[in-house]
Amino acid sequence: MLFKKKNTDIDLSSLDMKKVVSDAKLSHIAFIMDGNGRWATNKGLPREAGHKVGVEAFRTIAKKCKEYGIKTITIYAFSTENWSRPKNEVNEIMRLLDKYISEAEKEDAENRSRYYVLGDKERLGPELKAKCEYLEEFTRDNPYVVNIALNYGGRDEIVRAVNKLIAEGKTEVTEEDISSHIFTAHCPDPDLIVRSGGECRISNFLMWQSAYSELYFCDTLWPDMGDYELREAIVEFSKRKRRFGGVINK
Ligand code: IPE
Ligand code: IPE
Ligand code: MG
Repeated sequence: MLFKKKNTDIDLSSLDMKKVVSDAKLSHIAFIMDGNGRWATNKGLPREAGHKVGVEAFRTIAKKCKEYGIKTITIYAFSTENWSRPKNEVNEIMRLLDKYISEAEKEDAENRSRYYVLGDKERLGPELKAKCEYLEEFTRDNPYVVNIALNYGGRDEIVRAVNKLIAEGKTEVTEEDISSHIFTAHCPDPDLIVRSGGECRISNFLMWQSAYSELYFCDTLWPDMGDYELREAIVEFSKRKRRFGGVINK
């Protein structure tokens, strides 16, 4: 698989992941949770069943990331292109997201996460939009950050940022202007982007922010992602040499 090296030489279960994360200076992981539909189809189930189990996989991953000291996580939950899916599937994904948001509020004390919903909330309808905004406000004092990309498109985000800047009267923009007007203005760019499901593409995710992110693709379908697969991705990240266009003097 492209970019993927098997970590067969290391016993992943015995690693001190907090130390691995801290040594690797890993503060933000973004996940493209792909493969829910195929997971369900492989089991003779409707695609919606894959999305349901996919939410549980996300809960596990989010909990582990926090345990390992990762300050920010971002998940790609629904893209601006995903509206083209069958109505039943779109409705079920929205229902699951609505449910997840209600539960996140109830589990606030345990989660300790500050939520941001990235994307245009208008198209979500007034109820879900209000729920997202309430969750953002309700969790605003929590130390960890969870970004949920929902009705999110990387190109859409950049166009919106530029239009906001024009509305503010700018006639020329800088990189800093764009970075401070995109949906992720509150957090650093992702150090690592993990895509499950075997496809090696970005699919319009974090186009601006991924300029120097490390990319990690794995074949595991999202509902099967768990602690072991997360450890594999983090360990692989810890081996990467990030140069940011410069040279490493060691
Ligand atoms: C990702 O899984 C979840 C969403 C896009 C909401 P998919 O539904 O794309 O699963 P596959 O790629 O069809 O297996
Ligand atoms: C990307 O997955 C979007 C999300 C995970 C929400 P897709 O399944 O929509 O991507 P493509 O169509 O395979 O590129
Ligand atoms: Mg897919």
